[in-house]
Amino acid sequence: MSSSSSVRIWDLPVRLCHWLLVILVAGLYLTGEIGGFDLELPWPGGNTIYLGNMDVHALLGQAVLGVLVFRVLWGFFGSTTARFSDFVRGPASVIRYLRELLSGRIPEARGHNPAGAVMVLLLLLLLAAQTGTGLFASDDFFFEGPLAHRVDSDTSQTLTRLHKLNFNGLLFAIGLHVLASVYYLIRGKNLIGAMVHGRKSEDQLAGTEARPQFAGAWKAWLVAVLAVAAVWGLQEL
Ligand code: HEM
Repeated sequence: MSSSSSVRIWDLPVRLCHWLLVILVAGLYLTGEIGGFDLELPWPGGNTIYLGNMDVHALLGQAVLGVLVFRVLWGFFGSTTARFSDFVRGPASVIRYLRELLSGRIPEARGHNPAGAVMVLLLLLLLAAQTGTGLFASDDFFFEGPLAHRVDSDTSQTLTRLHKLNFNGLLFAIGLHVLASVYYLIRGKNLIGAMVHGRKSEDQLAGTEARPQFAGAWKAWLVAVLAVAAVWGLQEL
């Protein structure tokens, strides 16, 4: 696709958040469901630092939390297409969009389409529930989440069960999300490519709203510092 016939839609922070989430959730699956991913990392002074499989899992979970805090803040202060106000639509729009889809037509959308927006919100909510419950989870022996000491053992066990249950819901939603992306691809709309390079073709955008405005890099850095500070602050609670 030549840049003269395409328009920039997704900014770098949205794309980075997306592919970071993909990598981190894959890591969480491997460490949470399969195990054995202990790490021995080199440390200054010829030392090594040892991280057990569940330490790696907890670190990945906190990284997801950081990405989520960033993405939610970016949904209020970021570029046009990143903003919730730009893509979250009421039930009537979602139903109208799904009806058109079922009739065989794919309506154009500049950013997330109304049905895609529902999936985006669902994924963000499931990820938030996953990391939120993980903070309080414990196996009562070797491992506990960074905030497990703030609740009693029964509460921690309930949240641990919810943590495991929610992960199945998350996997199901991710499966649906990937299937939908492949469906659009087969129908000639390459949304996956757009999430990689950030651009959509002019034809794909015909008749959609005005071109998006992009937030400056300084804003992204500021929001990133806030997200890191928020996750860091959690450790101190
Ligand atoms: C761990 C797995 C995944 C998670 C948690 C996830 C989550 C998300 C989220 C939260 C968004 C919204 C982006 C934003 O506005 O910030 C999104 C969009 C998107 N994702 Fe994923 N995703 C995952 C895997 C994938 C994979 C494997 C693909 C490719 C096959 C994919 C394709 C897309 C596409 C094309 C969009 C943009 C949809 C649109 O244009 O409306 N995702 N994803």
